[in-house]
Amino acid sequence: MRSIILQGDVYACLEEIDEPIAVAITSPPYWRQRDYGFVGQIGQERTPEEYIGRLVAVYDKLREKLREDGIFFLNVGDKYLGQYGKSHLLQIPYRLGYHMVKTGWRLEDIIIWHKPNHLPSSVKDRFGNTYEPVLVFAKDKDNIYQKGLKNVVRIPLQQTPWKHTAVFPEKLVEEMLNRVKLEDEDVVLDPFAGTGTVAVVTQRMNGGLFPKRISSIMIEKGDEFVKIIRERAHIEQTKKVDDKVYVWRPSVEQMLPKGGSNEILEDKHGEVFISQTSAEFLSALRGITSDRFKHFHREDALYFFGVKNWSLEDLYYIAQIFQEGYVLRNMLVVTENGNWFPVFLFARDSTIVAYKFYLDRIRTRPKTEEHRDWFKEDYIGMRVSDISGKKNKEGWVIKVLENYDNGFPKLIVVQWDGYASLEIALNPESDESLLEGLVFKCPKCQAKLGELFDPAGENLCPKCGLQLWDQFDRIPLIEEPVITQVTSKLKGGDYMVGEVLKIEQLKRKKSTTSKFAELDRVNWGASPGARKTMLGDYFSKMRLYRIDQPTVAQYLTILRRHKKLSVQDVIDKLPSEYKHTVGHWFRKDFGGSIPIPEDVTLLKQILDVHNNLFEILEKSALKFQTVMASGKGRNPGDFIECQDEQELIAYLRKLYVPPLRYIQDRS
Ligand SMILES: C[S@@+](CC[C@H](N)C(=O)[O-])C[C@H]1O[C@@H](n2cnc3c(N)ncnc32)[C@H](O)[C@@H]1O
Repeated sequence: MRSIILQGDVYACLEEIDEPIAVAITSPPYWRQRDYGFVGQIGQERTPEEYIGRLVAVYDKLREKLREDGIFFLNVGDKYLGQYGKSHLLQIPYRLGYHMVKTGWRLEDIIIWHKPNHLPSSVKDRFGNTYEPVLVFAKDKDNIYQKGLKNVVRIPLQQTPWKHTAVFPEKLVEEMLNRVKLEDEDVVLDPFAGTGTVAVVTQRMNGGLFPKRISSIMIEKGDEFVKIIRERAHIEQTKKVDDKVYVWRPSVEQMLPKGGSNEILEDKHGEVFISQTSAEFLSALRGITSDRFKHFHREDALYFFGVKNWSLEDLYYIAQIFQEGYVLRNMLVVTENGNWFPVFLFARDSTIVAYKFYLDRIRTRPKTEEHRDWFKEDYIGMRVSDISGKKNKEGWVIKVLENYDNGFPKLIVVQWDGYASLEIALNPESDESLLEGLVFKCPKCQAKLGELFDPAGENLCPKCGLQLWDQFDRIPLIEEPVITQVTSKLKGGDYMVGEVLKIEQLKRKKSTTSKFAELDRVNWGASPGARKTMLGDYFSKMRLYRIDQPTVAQYLTILRRHKKLSVQDVIDKLPSEYKHTVGHWFRKDFGGSIPIPEDVTLLKQILDVHNNLFEILEKSALKFQTVMASGKGRNPGDFIECQDEQELIAYLRKLYVPPLRYIQDRS
């Protein structure tokens, strides 16, 4: 048989096939991903259920055409469905797989295709997506799939000259073909051929030292794609096939089973639970539906549920948790000796609170930093970007006044447009959690508090039982940690960190013995073009402390009430453009926001009560940002290599343990 392109609708084309297919490999259009621009295309269905139902019908037809011992590799991506607050991961590949099994397929394996060069992700409250599954189906237990191989493959995305971006990397197709035993005269099929990668790779097997005669059938409806396949895979024979009406129904999803459960109640902020068996996992899942479970945890809790010996049911039922008021945010793939298991991240689907996700604690530092000799680098001229205020500002480093022991600049003078300021830089080699290193103490017994203000909790001092956070004399005292010793040392001098150093001011101070006297030697007029760009590195100006928003809102509320002011009173005292902003400062739910430093200065004047929260909120620091040459996103991906389960648990816990307890845990 010779290779052929069948041009037309996938279902009608499948019906045309009369030779038994040994292997089918495909990647169908993903749901709501892109418009291929022709009538009858798959992927534009109104609901995931319609999409799944339609594909199940198409693959039923495919199964008819597959040889008894044949194999079907199905690569399909997932999708988040946006809701008001958080979007829910739909688990489309596994729901599709589940329904395919119900109609007679046998699931042999799920291969995880990890894409080391995936696009960088900007999401801050979940892991970025870095892999896709390839489901391996068979008709019969006796088949040509080589069992026992590792089911994680690492294959970079491949650049292609076609505007069509969903092209299979050739390596991925090779990998699949290597997992089946092919014989002369076997036929390989791609029912959604796109640019014909499957045909190209299949043909390569026909060359070489031990050539095989394997032909391919490519089904594709789009004219442009058919043209590409013809040229790329040199397939001359094209047969046009007329559309045909076929029956399909939207998939009907199962409810999460209710009933007896294994309850995991350890930490009200979240749980990590890795079960060994599927039965244990499903039992734990049932547990999340109980009132006891829901009441034990805070509304902003995070859950990581994993299963070592997973089954397709586990991957299916996790998608149903939205019926119980949860949102699935990630399916993490954890690898262990070349095989993988899933760990699901989910949270309460709440309009009231946003969950905490301390991403910075696990963010991987770029490797380049570890080997850099900070003493040897030149920081003068480096860009400084400030996006913390109302207007984005750009400046550059004109002087380094003090360094850390490792040579990295600590105290820096920055030239902005028309003025200069003194800034403290954070050490890129020290722990980033210093940013959240404030200490809160009971105003009565001075005991260190392990937790911040909890909008849903009791808020009692763990030592003396004092009711905290409800009135002026019961708000915790805030102490600043080590890092600010630098700033307090400076306070004794002439300037404070972040303070504007006006040029005239500098000149005036020149006559004194101030340690900044030498500043006037700097060439203020240096053109921005003279600024240095070093490996794309720059500093960004940000808040020195990462503070919990509801806690700030509670402080501000108490201080406001202490002054007998309503929110409206505060609005009235501010310029009219603040009308829509002020309310958010006092909100403790997901609509709340922390005032930006310049607004804190205004608030401090209006509320006019002493509390060092204001100074804390005004403090800023420069954070060193390094852009890696590869452009790799720095957010952690959903693919985790792991050797040790305890390590994995500790890693995941970092994401929800409240800042104060986290610091204490480590010290
Ligand atoms: C994700 S792409 C496949 C890409 C392919 N794996 C490659 O390497 O180029 C899916 C293809 O399915 C085609 N397609 C969509 N709906 C179809 C339908 N109803 N019948 C036939 N082809 C269809 C689209 O034109 C598109 O080229």
